Amino acid sequence: MLKEISVELININPCTLIGKQWMLITAGTEQSFNTMTASWGHIGALWGQSVNGRPTVEVFIRPSRYTDKFVDENDCFSLTFFDEQYRKDLAYLGSHSGKDVNKITKTKLTPFFIDGVPAFKEAKMVIVARKIYKGKIEENNFIDKSIIKAFYNSESGHAYNNDSYHNVYIAEIIKVFVNE
Ligand SMILES: Cc1cc2nc3c(=O)[nH]c(=O)nc-3n(C[C@H](O)[C@H](O)[C@H](O)COP(=O)(O)O)c2cc1C
Repeated sequence: MLKEISVELININPCTLIGKQWMLITAGTEQSFNTMTASWGHIGALWGQSVNGRPTVEVFIRPSRYTDKFVDENDCFSLTFFDEQYRKDLAYLGSHSGKDVNKITKTKLTPFFIDGVPAFKEAKMVIVARKIYKGKIEENNFIDKSIIKAFYNSESGHAYNNDSYHNVYIAEIIKVFVNE
């Protein structure tokens, strides 16, 4: 059962939770939504008053992802985190596009909606976030230029073009649920 908790009670290591265990970014409406796996992101505080840091998340989505359209077109999105038993599902959702296949039906995951925002019942934690800023990674702004080679050009081993620079979304955490 998912139970709502206050943001102060989030008890995770964001580096391992996002970077190693991964998450799903999900957005859309009850009629139409999409999800994708992500291992890049931040959970932190931004644009709050000194002792009242506004809890925020930041995600990085290439414009080529079908999910990007849903995140872009909706005010909110969810981040969902899972136990190891769902690793195969996350790997699948991170290697197939909702443009080509109704991919959620190929997994063990059950969508549900929190105030109209799509999430998954099996998640061990759900964060619902409201977008406050959209930006884009800019090639000229890299201080460590090796990142360009590693992630953004043809030498990176990926078929990237100028449109491959990630969109960056910063969003305020408005609800948190944990599975008990
Ligand atoms: C472990 C893992 C982490 C990923 N992290 C990201 C990420 O942070 N940002 C991103 O744009 N794509 C990321 N991807 C790739 C997308 O999940 C993948 O392209 C997915 O198929 C997009 O689905 P969609 O087209 O239905 O949105 C990741 C994939 C995997 C397997």
